[in-house]
Order: sequence, then C-alpha cells, then structure tokens
Amino acid sequence: MGWNSWNSFANIINSQIVQQQAKALASNGMKVAGYEYIVIDEGWWLGERDAAGNIVVDPKQWPAIQPGQKAGDMSNIAAYIHSLDLKAGIYTDAGRDGCSMYPDSGPKLLNTGSEGHYDQDFLQFSKWGFDYVKVDWCGGAKEKLSGAVQYAQIAHAIQRAENTTGRKLFLSICEWGSQNPWFWAPGVGDIETTIWRTGGDIIPPVVESLHDAEHDKRFISSKNVLESFEAGLHPEAQHTGYYNDLDMMVIGMRGMTDALDRIHMGLWAISSAPLMVGSDLTRLSPATLSLLTNKEALAIHNDPYGLQPIKVTEPTPGVQIWAKPMAIGGRRAVAILNGTDASAEVKVDWDKLGLKGPPKELRDVWSGRDLDTGDATLSVPAHDLALLTVDGGEKTPAEYLVNQTDITKIQATRGPTFARLQYANTSGHTVVVPLKSTSGLSTALALPPTVGSDTGTVGLILPHGTADLLLEGQQRLAIRKLDVYPW
Ligand code: GLA
Repeated sequence: MGWNSWNSFANIINSQIVQQQAKALASNGMKVAGYEYIVIDEGWWLGERDAAGNIVVDPKQWPAIQPGQKAGDMSNIAAYIHSLDLKAGIYTDAGRDGCSMYPDSGPKLLNTGSEGHYDQDFLQFSKWGFDYVKVDWCGGAKEKLSGAVQYAQIAHAIQRAENTTGRKLFLSICEWGSQNPWFWAPGVGDIETTIWRTGGDIIPPVVESLHDAEHDKRFISSKNVLESFEAGLHPEAQHTGYYNDLDMMVIGMRGMTDALDRIHMGLWAISSAPLMVGSDLTRLSPATLSLLTNKEALAIHNDPYGLQPIKVTEPTPGVQIWAKPMAIGGRRAVAILNGTDASAEVKVDWDKLGLKGPPKELRDVWSGRDLDTGDATLSVPAHDLALLTVDGGEKTPAEYLVNQTDITKIQATRGPTFARLQYANTSGHTVVVPLKSTSGLSTALALPPTVGSDTGTVGLILPHGTADLLLEGQQRLAIRKLDVYPW
C-alpha cells in the first residue's frame, strides 16, 4: 500500500513533488490506514553513468534537502521519506533501455535500464536507502528477453544487495502479463515477497499541469478499470506474500466518479491487489479519501490469506457476484458489480458462496452497517459496486492428512477450489515450495517459519484439475493437513 508517481506526474517527477506527496500521505489519514510506500517511478534518471558505471543523478531534479547533503544524491529523498516514517521506492528496467514515455512527446531516453548492471544498481538502490524497487520491461521486451530468466537474476541481485546492506528491498515485477508471470513470478529466484503486474497501464498518465491535445482528452472510464481487473485474475497463483498486481490506482483522477471510485476500490481490495495510489494526493476529495481509508474494505484487502475473488454467478448479464474466502472460517468477502445502465435488485444465492446454509451475519462495507440476514436481496445502483462481508458455516472439507511427504493428486475437479493448508516449518526461515497442477499451472507457496509445535496456515485457490504439492526434500517442513472445500 502506498503511492506511485507515474499516473499523475509521469516524467516531470522531482524531489519537491515527492516531498509534497509524501507529506500529504503522512497527514491525510492514509498513513494511519496502512499506506506506507512512496514510489518514484520512471523519469528520476536520465540514463547517464559515470566511468565506473554508477548512475549519475541530476542535481537540479534531486537537490539537497537538509544542510550537509550533496545535490544529485538519491539518498536525500529516501531519507526525507524515512523521516516521515514511510518507506521509499524506486524504479528501473530489466533491459538496457527504459520506457522513456515522456508524456506524449519529448525525447526518448536510452540506457535508463539496469541490464548489465544488476548487482551494481540494486546495491546502489539499497545503499541509498530504498526499500522497494519496481522493475519495468520496456527494454526487456525490445530485446526479446525471457522474463523468468531476467527477473530470477534480478531477484538474486536483490538478495546479494540485501545481504550487504541488511535492508529489505521489495521487488515489484512490471512486465504487464506479457509472458504469463503468474506461472513463474511467485517465488522467482526463491524470493519471499513479490508482486507482478498482470496487464498494461489502466491509462497513460494524466498530468494536470500539462496541456496538449492528446493529453487533455484523457479521461478514465469504467471500461479501463474493469479491463485491468479482469486481466489480473489469476487466483491460483496468488498466495500470502505473492500478489497479482492490477496496476497503480487511478482513484479520484480525471473521469472517475464516486461510483467508479467505489468499483475501483472494491475490486482492488477484494483482490488483495497492491493499493499503490497513482493519484495526486494533494487533490483527493473527501469522498475518495474516505474510500481509500475505509477500515472494513482494508480489512478485506489485508486478510492474511490474501486471496483473489472468484466469480460465482452472473444472475443477469452485466451483474456479477464475486466472492473471496477469508482466513476466518466461514467468512467471505463479496462484491456485487452492477455494470449495467439500470439499478439492479440482486438476490444472493448463499449456496454459491460455498457456504452451508444462510449467513449468520451480513455487513455492508461502504455504510458500515449490518444488514438483515433474512433478506438476501440487495439493491445496487447502475455502474456501482456493493461490498459485503458474509459470515456463515463452512462446508465439510475433503481432508488430506500427511506428515513429511508430498501430497499428490489433490482433487479440485469441480473448478477453482478453496483450500487451507496447515504446516510446520522449523527451519527458521521462509520456505518456498512448488505446487503443480494438471491444468498446466505451476506456482509456489511461501511458508513462513513456525515456532515450537505451532502450525501455520495458508489459504489457496487450487486450479481446476488435480494438483501435486511437492516438498522436494525439505527436511524441516511438514505438511500437517490440507482441507479442500467443496464450492
Ligand atoms: C510502463 C509501466 C508504467 C510506468 C511507465 C513508465 O508503461 O507499465 O506503470 O512505469 O512504464 O514509463
């Protein structure tokens, strides 16, 4: 959760803008709500290196902020972000060149990528004090590189940098879903936490201070937002610590209405997608801000299992019900999306949520009110979204009991299936284990260490078919139980 500079500032980004945005996030209620990263996207660097291959930083764009600092040093802005008790993010490309998309026109900047300098650049980012790095794919695509290969090398370079500086550097993979990253990004290079973009940009940047024919006509529509959501649905690849990234948010930006903001916030929250807000934080309306900081929506987003929703039914064309299993037994987050031009009276079929019988509790997230569980009909205005949490009884699962061995032929033959995995990991560190399915999907689970006789639990959505969970000789890891729920 945090802010990213690209959507609203594109390549005009500089120290002053970043300071203003960081200050806004720290004081407008977002920081308290959990937004913590301030990410500087493309445009911070113009592609020049010194004789030793070190990145040369423009002193005017990134001046000293405090007495005693040197202009042209990115540690100035990282220190400023840290002084607000926030985390700092930076950006590069996996290939030789970056994207260099100066809004609409302007020079194409070559050599703004990190290829050939992975160790040098990621160590530099970490030494400057950055906690997060987004690695784009414009250069990688141009050179027709393999994403799985490059990002594994990057993950290893990041691990070496972390070992040197002792600072965690979070990897954000941005190859727009071009090489099916949901198959290889979870656990790439044995990395524990990462996110991968699943599609292109919701829209090109909308920089309010720029005026030209092309730029002035940019308005965000519900189609832009819904297409990004749909492109990002890979629930079988998403596990605690590994997330499909639906793109930076455009909430409150040009063209967005309050209803469209609700659709955007509701879908990103129920998907546990990164909430990297790309809007100008100094211009957010109270309505947008209250959506971004809505506690119950954020609780759905931050559910420990971090799963994506599954479309359970479309009672009439354009009206869709999405449900996401949550860590608390029998709890579902439910989004009812009305993409039609008319208000919809939606009758929820509880059985379709994979629950036994009618719900015991029903909560409307936007209003923060309990709803009558006896009445399953909800009214959703045209082009709007209702967000609910539903508490009911979980159906009886199929149980796979094991100790020390792999689990093979896990049955999920009725479609995407919710499962809970209990394990013990006494290795002292997170272990990444592969999961392979007959559907062709291979993914990875990160299993954090457990203490003593405690068990850890993760949630997963198994793909249609049968799956094998392979421990591949992990000595200190034992699967205790796998519960597979009929949906
Ligand atoms: C790509 C990415 C965007 C942004 C721009 C910068 O388009 O998908 O998120 O980083 O590059 O040029």
